[in-house]
Amino acid sequence: MSDNPFIHTPVLLQESIELLNVKPDGIYIDCTLGGGGHTEAILKGLGTGGLVLGLDADKEAIEAAQKKLSQHKNITYINDNFADLKKYITEPVDGFLFDLGVSSHQIDTASRGFSIREDGPLDMRLGQEQKLSAKDIVNNFSQEALTEIFFQFGEERFSRRVAKKIIIERESTEIATTQKLKEIIEQAIPTWKKRESVTRIFQALRIAVNNELTSLKTALLDAIELLKPGGRIVVISYHSLEDRIIKHTFRQANLNILTKKPITASEPETALNPRSESAKLRAAEKLS
Ligand SMILES: C[S@@+](CC[C@H](N)C(=O)[O-])C[C@H]1O[C@@H](n2cnc3c(N)ncnc32)[C@H](O)[C@@H]1O
Repeated sequence: MSDNPFIHTPVLLQESIELLNVKPDGIYIDCTLGGGGHTEAILKGLGTGGLVLGLDADKEAIEAAQKKLSQHKNITYINDNFADLKKYITEPVDGFLFDLGVSSHQIDTASRGFSIREDGPLDMRLGQEQKLSAKDIVNNFSQEALTEIFFQFGEERFSRRVAKKIIIERESTEIATTQKLKEIIEQAIPTWKKRESVTRIFQALRIAVNNELTSLKTALLDAIELLKPGGRIVVISYHSLEDRIIKHTFRQANLNILTKKPITASEPETALNPRSESAKLRAAEKLS
C-alpha cells in the first residue's frame, strides 16, 4: 500500500494532456485537483515561466496534492468551488481542465458518505464548510422535492416509490447512514435492478448536495470567457447529465470543437481502472 491514499490512475491522462496542448510558459487551471495526477502531468510540460492553479472544493484533496507535488514550485493551490473561478482568475489563461465528480479517495473514505459499499454518515459534501448534507435532504425535504431530485438528477424511474418509502421510514427514526438509505431504496424497488437504482439515487443526492450541475454550467461559461484566443478547455465527465451540459455549452460558445465525438477510455485503461468506464472527454479551443 502507498503512503498517499490519493494515488490512483488519473482517467484519460494522456488524451487530456495532449488535448490541453501544454506550452512551457503557459498558465493552466486544474479545476478539479483531486489527488493531483493530471496536474502532475501538466507540471511536467511546464518550464520555469509556466504556472498551474490547482483548485478543489475539498480541503483534504488540497492537502494530499500539496504533499504529493511538494517538489514543484510553479503551482498555486486554491480551496474553493470551481463555480467561483472568477474570484481568482482575472487575466486570460492558456487552458482549463475539469475531471468531474468525486475522486476514488473520496469514494473509498466511508466517513465522507459517498460509498454504496461501506457504511458511513449520510454526508456527501465535497467541501467541508458546506452546510447542506445528504442527511438534511433525506430527512427534511418533502416527498415531492425528493421525487424531483431522484428523477431529475438520477433519472430514476422509481423515484416516487423511493421518496414515499423514505417519508414513511423517517417518521420513526432519522435516516443517518448510507447503509440505512441503501436498505430503504432496495425495499422500495421491485425485485430487479436494485443495484442500479441505489447507484442512481446516490448520484442524485450527491448532485443535489453539491449543486453540481449549476456549478458546472457557471464554471464552463466562466472558463470559456477566461481563455486566451487559441486556449483550450478539456472536460472529463462521468454521467450523461454532465456530458449534455458540456456538449451544449461548447456548441453555444462558438468554439473550435476538438472532439467531434467524446473520447472514451481504451480497454486496457478500463481493465486497470473501472472508474474510467463511464468517462467521456470533450475538448475545445477558443477561436483566435
Ligand atoms: C475525479 S476527481 C479529480 C482527480 C484528479 N484529476 C487527479 O488526477 O487526481 C474530482 C475532484 O474534483 C473535486 N470537485 C468536484 N466538483 C468540484 C467543484 N464544483 N469545485 C471544486 N472541486 C470540485 C472533487 O472534490 C475531487 O477532488
